[in-house]
Amino acid sequence: MTLAYQSGFGNEFATEALAGTLPQGRNSPQRVAHGLYAEQLSGTAFTAPRHSNRRTWFYRIRPAALHGSFELLPDSAFHNRFAELPADPNQLRWSPLPATTPGKDFIDGLFAMCGNAGVGVHRYAANADMQGRFFSNTDAEMLIVPQAGRLRLRTEMGVLEIEPQEIAVIPRGIRFAVDLPDGSAAGYVAENYGALLRLPDLGPIGSNGLANPRDFLYPVAAYEESEGDFELLNKFQGRLWRAPIGHSPLDVVGWHGNYAPYKYDLRRFNTIGSISHDHPDPSIFLVLYSPSDTAGTSNLDFVIFPPRWLVAQDTFRPPWFHRNIASEFMGLIHGVYDAKADGFVPGGASLHNAMSAHGPDAATFDKASSADLSKPDVIAETMAFMFETRHMFAPTQQALQCASRQRDYQSCWQGLRKNFTPDNA
Ligand SMILES: [Fe+2]
Repeated sequence: MTLAYQSGFGNEFATEALAGTLPQGRNSPQRVAHGLYAEQLSGTAFTAPRHSNRRTWFYRIRPAALHGSFELLPDSAFHNRFAELPADPNQLRWSPLPATTPGKDFIDGLFAMCGNAGVGVHRYAANADMQGRFFSNTDAEMLIVPQAGRLRLRTEMGVLEIEPQEIAVIPRGIRFAVDLPDGSAAGYVAENYGALLRLPDLGPIGSNGLANPRDFLYPVAAYEESEGDFELLNKFQGRLWRAPIGHSPLDVVGWHGNYAPYKYDLRRFNTIGSISHDHPDPSIFLVLYSPSDTAGTSNLDFVIFPPRWLVAQDTFRPPWFHRNIASEFMGLIHGVYDAKADGFVPGGASLHNAMSAHGPDAATFDKASSADLSKPDVIAETMAFMFETRHMFAPTQQALQCASRQRDYQSCWQGLRKNFTPDNA
C-alpha cells in the first residue's frame, strides 16, 4: 500500500476519501453529503491567536460520542506517576529495554521512564498490532521516536507510516491504532502536556535551515467501516480508561483543518554548525519545541544530533563538559554518539537533570584531545536525540529498579586524570 501525504507544517488542509464529501462554503451544513455527521475537534482554546489556533472539522460515519462507558483500568507501566520518587541529581543511564513478552501492542508496551508537570518520557517495546483496540491521549500530545521497527499509525485523519529516523506527532484527543509492519518495534515517546509543538524561529539563520516546513507530512483522509466488539482506550489524568465501542472510530471520510497528526524524516534536517572554531550551543539542533510562558525557555525541546562534519580548528570537537539549567533525557536511534566510546547504544537512554555535570567519557576525552584537526571528522552513522525541559525530570520507580539501568554509569568519568601542570604551557 502506497501512502499519500500532504505537506507543510500546520497548514490548513482539506482532504476527502470520497469525492464530494467536504461541504463548500460552510463547516456544518444542515445535511452533510453521503449521510455523514459533521464534528469539530478543537486542539487549542477557541480564542487562541490566529497563528496558533488549531482545529479540524470531521465528516464521519458516526459521531465520536457513540461508545459505551469508560471504566478505569488497573495500573500499568504506562503512567504519569512522576511524584513517586524525588527527582534525582545523579547522572542516570539505561541499556535498551529487553525483548518483550509476546502479545504486547504499542500501548501495552509503553514504559514510563521519567517526567514532570510539563513532559512525560516513555520507552516502548511491542510485538503485536492493535487489533480492535483504539487509543487517544487526553493528557498530552505524543511525540513518537521509533528506534527499531516501523509503525503504521492509523488515525482519524488517515494513515501515517514511520520508520526509525522518522518521527510522528499525534496531538491530544486524536484516536488512533498502531500496527507493526515488521512484527516488532521499539522506541521512545515524549508526552507533551504543554503548548503544542511548533517550529522554532530562525533568527539570524534566515528563512531556510534546520527542519523546513515542507518536510512535515500529514495524512490524507482514509476511513475504516468495520463493526465488532472493539475497545476504546483513553489516557486521562495519567490513568488508562477503557470503553466498549461497536465500530472503528477511524471512520472519518473527509476532514479540513490544521489540527492533525504529522510525520517528519530526521534525515531531512539541515544541520548547521561551526566552520571556524568552538561549538555553538545545541539549540542549533532544535527540531520542534513547546514554549512555556517564559520567553526562550521551553516546556519541551526536541533536539537531534544528526550526521555532520566537524571541522572546527583548535577545538575539542566532541560535545563539551557542561552543566545545564535544563534537564536532558537522551536516546540513541542509530549508530554511535560522539561523546561516548561505549555504554550508550541504540535503544539506550540517559538522564541528566538540571546542573548534573556530564560530558565525554575518559576514552573520548583522551582521543579527541590529541586528534589530528587538519582533517574533518565525518560522523556519518549517528542519530541521537534529546527531550529537554525546563522542569526537573523525576524518574519512575520502575525506571530506577529495572534491569536495564546501568548502575555503574558514573564510572565512565572516573578515568579522567588530573593533567594539571602549572609549570608548563
Ligand atoms: Fe547535555
